[in-house]
Amino acid sequence: MRSHYCGQVNESLIGKEVSVAGWVHRRRDHGGVIFVDLRDREGLLQIVFDPDAKDVFADAERLRGEFCIRIKGLVRARPGGTANANLASGQVELLAQELEILSRSETPPFHHDEPVNEELRLKYRYLDLRRDVMQKRIRLRHQVTRAMRDYLDSNGFIDIETPMLTKATPEGARDYLVPSRTHPGQFFALPQSPQLFKQLLMMAGYDRYYQIVRCFRDEDLRAERQPEFTQLDIETSFLSEEQIMQLMEALIRHLFKDVLGDDLPNPFPRMTYAEAMRRYASDKPDLRIPLELVDVADLVKGCDFKVFSGPAANPDGRVAALRVPEGGTKLSRKEIDDYTTFVGRYGAKGLAYVKVNEKAKGRDGLQSPILKFLSDDAINGILSRTGAQDGDLIFFGADTAKVVNDSIGALRIKVGHDLKLTKTGWHPLWVVDFPMFEWDPEAKRWAALHHPFTAPRIEDAAALRADPKNALSKGYDMVLNGSEIGGGSVRIHRTEMQSTVFDLLGISAEEAQIKFGFLLEALKFGTPPHGGIAFGLDRIVMFMAGTDSIRDVIAFPKTQTAADLMTSAPTGVSEEQLKELHIRVKLPVKVEG
Ligand code: AMO
Ligand code: AMP
Repeated sequence: MRSHYCGQVNESLIGKEVSVAGWVHRRRDHGGVIFVDLRDREGLLQIVFDPDAKDVFADAERLRGEFCIRIKGLVRARPGGTANANLASGQVELLAQELEILSRSETPPFHHDEPVNEELRLKYRYLDLRRDVMQKRIRLRHQVTRAMRDYLDSNGFIDIETPMLTKATPEGARDYLVPSRTHPGQFFALPQSPQLFKQLLMMAGYDRYYQIVRCFRDEDLRAERQPEFTQLDIETSFLSEEQIMQLMEALIRHLFKDVLGDDLPNPFPRMTYAEAMRRYASDKPDLRIPLELVDVADLVKGCDFKVFSGPAANPDGRVAALRVPEGGTKLSRKEIDDYTTFVGRYGAKGLAYVKVNEKAKGRDGLQSPILKFLSDDAINGILSRTGAQDGDLIFFGADTAKVVNDSIGALRIKVGHDLKLTKTGWHPLWVVDFPMFEWDPEAKRWAALHHPFTAPRIEDAAALRADPKNALSKGYDMVLNGSEIGGGSVRIHRTEMQSTVFDLLGISAEEAQIKFGFLLEALKFGTPPHGGIAFGLDRIVMFMAGTDSIRDVIAFPKTQTAADLMTSAPTGVSEEQLKELHIRVKLPVKVEG
């Protein structure tokens, strides 16, 4: 049908006959001559229909946007002055000799060049995917997976598939369940990750595994979360934490170099979890934003301002200051009020601030509703610790550490963007030295910061049991521009330690046996030391594509409410199907609002 892609027709073909096929991108009538921009995946080609070729011309008059056609014609140079430097085929045009309408199109719900809302794009995803920008993103994704495979292949990794119909693995989200017809009342869970299977593959001696694999998590969705998403999942044996991290950051450097031609730092900077929380109030610090928190609890401990002195005296509290350079001159009263509302969404009860007008004047050179509560020593301490200069503004958060970290951490990023302080480029880092556990005050028990298979730094199970609060894990997260793009760890490879961790997490021996009996059993048969990582493929491609939603780099994504607008999934099923599965549906009673 076709001899060339549209985007490949260029000067070298002048005088030759070619056949092309694609979609009518645009049709223009110019005083008796019809021009059609024909589009295929490689680009656009201008087709010219001359009225002297009567039959072809008559057919061309019937062409409309998105008709799928085939053209045979003669390549010729565009007349002087009409070349288009933006197109690969911009020096030439195709004089049509034959036109075949392969299929017609109704008027599409949107044109390529007009802004469209995402709902419409998702409903007609196949049309949305025709757009140049989407073609580029989806093909970029292919470049990325190809580069991943190249690197892993040359480093001895083996691609192995793991089951989709399986048992719940705990990555912390709700499971998607699949009812079993052959085992009435029993359910498979779709994997939240292949975590346990990849560990079992290490026990099985494959040494280096990888898989580009779909994972399913029923959780609250955001721009960078989908209910089904793709991981580059990796596991290795007999490598230390250090060796795994080196191999994995080299993979990411290879990716950015190969696909984008960009150089990432070598080595990636590393930051402990404690430092990340202290300076950036986040375990995935966005290093593009040059604002940092400083702790001032010790300076305000005894002050008359209960809002500060309370959390300062509370072991779970935090009082932190965030200096915004030139914030005093740039931020209006209204903007400060808006930021107060903003931090309120994260549970903050207020947002105290100090404007630094003229530092040299001490207290008189400052402006703030809370000055009257603070001693000269406290004020001087805050000014020197934050490094504040004339014209700056200092924000304060005082509450439990969690509320301060959530609210001031988010404020840091928002103010950084609003004041355009954000640095450009790639800012990857490793976050390491995570605590093994964090206390869950609601459930009143320890929860795993990574997952329950992550090895602690301490080798001795009894020592871990004696002091779980201060135990660090062999976990590591890779962070890029404020997003967690990968996370992993060295795993527990001894039964005793695995049982101790389950126990500390409040998983009884009986429950552990039901849920993870196969793993505990396998650990008994000569398990090699092993560890790995999983990267969020969608997030990596999202960054590379320069967009801010992973939906833009997934061919058929779901909405924020986990629905597919194109197929209308999920849908109800027939009584017949339910009966086969021994399922009766009981809908929630609608609460009238
Ligand atoms: P984790 O749960 O950190 O680790 O997941 C690994 C990476 O997957 C990405 N990710 C997501 N991307 C899109 N939508 C989601 N809902 C979503 N959830 C996670 C993130 C994250 O860093 N089995 C462990 C890995 C291991 O220990 O080896 C795991 O799944 O980029
Ligand atoms: P108030 O005494 O409640 O009027 O608060 C005085 C100032 O402290 C106001 O600017 C409040 O926004 C701020 N503020 C109140 N609670 C907090 C808090 N938990 N953290 C930081 N600032 C607060």
